[in-house]
Amino acid sequence: MPDLTPSSTVNDGLSMPGTVSGVQTPTVKDPARFLTPKARKTEADGIRGLLPLEKPGVVSFPCATLLVLPSSPSPRRAGRPNPHTFPFASITLNLKPPLSTSSEPAASSGPTTLEIAGEDLEAALQYGPSAGLPQLRGVLEDLQSTVHKREKGTGWTVSVGSGSQDLMYKGFQTVLSPGDPVLLETPLYAGALPAIRMLGAELVEVDVDEQGLSAINLERVLASWPEGKKRPRVIYSTPTGCNPSGCSASRERKLAVLEVCKKYDILIFEDDPYYYLTQNLIPSYFELEKQVIPEGGHVLRFDSMSKLLSAGMRLGWVTGPKALVHAIDVITSGANLHTSSISQVMAYRLLGHWGISGFVSHCTAVADFYAERREVFEAIARKHLDGLARWVSPVAGMFLWIDLSPAGITDTYELIRHEAYEKGVLAVPGYAFYPSGRKSSHLRVAFSVCDMEKDVDLGFSRLATAIKDKRKQLGLE
Ligand SMILES: Cc1ncc(COP(=O)(O)O)c(C=O)c1O
Repeated sequence: MPDLTPSSTVNDGLSMPGTVSGVQTPTVKDPARFLTPKARKTEADGIRGLLPLEKPGVVSFPCATLLVLPSSPSPRRAGRPNPHTFPFASITLNLKPPLSTSSEPAASSGPTTLEIAGEDLEAALQYGPSAGLPQLRGVLEDLQSTVHKREKGTGWTVSVGSGSQDLMYKGFQTVLSPGDPVLLETPLYAGALPAIRMLGAELVEVDVDEQGLSAINLERVLASWPEGKKRPRVIYSTPTGCNPSGCSASRERKLAVLEVCKKYDILIFEDDPYYYLTQNLIPSYFELEKQVIPEGGHVLRFDSMSKLLSAGMRLGWVTGPKALVHAIDVITSGANLHTSSISQVMAYRLLGHWGISGFVSHCTAVADFYAERREVFEAIARKHLDGLARWVSPVAGMFLWIDLSPAGITDTYELIRHEAYEKGVLAVPGYAFYPSGRKSSHLRVAFSVCDMEKDVDLGFSRLATAIKDKRKQLGLE
């Protein structure tokens, strides 16, 4: 008989249904201390809990929907819909020739074809583990270990999600209870807000400077935290090519932020979908953490394939302390079971074909592509907005965060909603990126897909006219 003894309270995939064993209080160094009491107690459902017990010699009767954990010894034996009934004989991926980079011309090789058949097709069409297919997780672990210089097997792990958005949404659920304060760099990616608001957390703004999250502002907020009030334990930041501010935190800035996080015992949500969209990669919080906090455990990192392979594949991955990543897996098991296996197989076949160095050179080519666009876009913006606006010239990402205070405009919402829209141009007013909805003199424009030849020039000329009209209205001209 297999041993059915329940295991620890954080999901390791071996716990049995409804068997919340004695909830252990995490120690000071245990990353599980960042989890809410609920997240610490909740385990995967009963089917999932049984799966790791499958092994040769044990007859496993099929379940209607079967959820398989990566630790399952024989995932293919488990009960699932019978693939005989699926109408797909194979999937063929036709790859474009590699993009050229600034240092390497476009490869002369033609398109490549990857055929997904046999075991890969089976995996692509079936239910899979909540944390992601082991093949893909293995590749991603190698990638993280190589790029972020973190040794494997040292307390961190990787799980796959339906975009980094999905994983962040779940991540916030594991660390925030109603009323908990959470530190947010501001302006921040507006897409992070609904999840945090739904949890009833208290949103605490920490203003960025020209390098993104400011260690000084962070220290100021934490040092002046009211006596007796529940302290924040999490900070959210997009450190590279931030959406919307376009700022990137340098290595030195990140080290300074990590020092503050160490001092006040704060977990960093490193939301970094633009990490590779810069021509000189900046060491991540996940990499630098070891220098400041040798035991680690203070960074939960979110990566995304959206800007690198395809946004529609909905593929992201979270990297961080096992206890925190597994708590996210538990939510996945109850929310969407797992990320599309088809997307995962596409990714691991592609990454297998490229290897880590091929993936990184693809990313370099993507970074070069956006850098070229950024240069043209900024030159046109300068031509029209000179004297009316200023911005930090981004070294990464796809956004310009344009400050109209040189033109005397303090609220871009009014400008965009009326003067700009009437002239036929739209941009996102800055207030959308502040939880408090405060008035902002900024607006966000993206240079990722617009038509450089005609739309950009027209758009900025209309915007300049709108600004001048507004100035007249305000009695500034
Ligand atoms: C800062 C930031 N985080 C997360 C996301 C969501 O990325 P994904 O497509 O991986 O869910 C975006 C999307 O634009 C973003 O700008």
